[in-house]
Amino acid sequence: MTEAWGPDDDKPRRFAGPVKVRVPSKINLHLGVGPLREDGYHELNTVYHAISLFDELTARRGDTLTLTMEGEGAGELALDDSNLIIRAARALAARGRVPAHARLHLRKSIPLAGGLAGGSADAAATLLACDLLWGTGFSREELAEIGAELGSDVPFLLHGGTALGTGHGESVSPILARPTTWHWVLAIADGGLSTPEVYRELDRLREGPWPPAALENADELMTALRQRKPEVLGATLANDLQPAALSLRPALADVLKAGYDAGAVAGIVSGSGPTCVFLAADGAHAEQVAAELTEAGVCRSVVTARGPMPGARVT
Ligand code: C5P
Repeated sequence: MTEAWGPDDDKPRRFAGPVKVRVPSKINLHLGVGPLREDGYHELNTVYHAISLFDELTARRGDTLTLTMEGEGAGELALDDSNLIIRAARALAARGRVPAHARLHLRKSIPLAGGLAGGSADAAATLLACDLLWGTGFSREELAEIGAELGSDVPFLLHGGTALGTGHGESVSPILARPTTWHWVLAIADGGLSTPEVYRELDRLREGPWPPAALENADELMTALRQRKPEVLGATLANDLQPAALSLRPALADVLKAGYDAGAVAGIVSGSGPTCVFLAADGAHAEQVAAELTEAGVCRSVVTARGPMPGARVT
């Protein structure tokens, strides 16, 4: 009972021992933000892309529900009922009518509040790990449905790859593109940005008429994804939240400039920021851009990553 959940296999198996799940982070190659809806979310038209910066969650049998963690954000992130991992485990247990008993341990590499969906990634990993530990047997679609209530990006992080996100981001359809690996450089900031605050800032900046075209604008990017040319893809990267993130954190303009100065093909703020993500021509170029960006000293750390990556998977 150690076989991983295959990409086309929606029938999870029950695991007797510890279940270890690896989950990617995401960037948005296109993030079109529409109007604020009555439920407090903004309508989105986004292209998600899962990248190789991973968190790892291990679920073991236990008599209660506990969470420990190591790595990025340890000591800062609350491990109580407010934590998305605990909320995900409880939501799954309630839906599966089983006791929420597990010892969960998180090894975190995705920065907190970084615009890389680290919280949603951990919730996705928890849903998959606990489903296997408890034998609740939900399909990936059912897990995505439970996950959508926890965070807009959870359904995507269960699926992975490159996908179109609509609704408030929770409605996900895969984009079939030629198999290409894209190379990215991430500038990780000191301190995070609150996603709701960034959306509020966008609403403030948009007071008065704003171009609704932003919501329909992923077509060029979709065409670019079918080619293998970084400069073509780079020209179509777009993020409606970028002006809001820059307004709240003006120093991000220096980070973007430093990325271009280091020779990146293109650069944008990732999601609600403050992580900035740069496209490189290939793996060697990514290392070179990363070295120069590190040298520029405009951010806390620099990492390289590849995409697309699969979603949450048992290792
Ligand atoms: O779903 P998630 O937890 O990522 O959303 C956090 C907050 O970000 C929401 O409560 C909302 O304020 C804002 N948000 C939004 N529109 C979206 C997604 C998130 O306004 N499509």
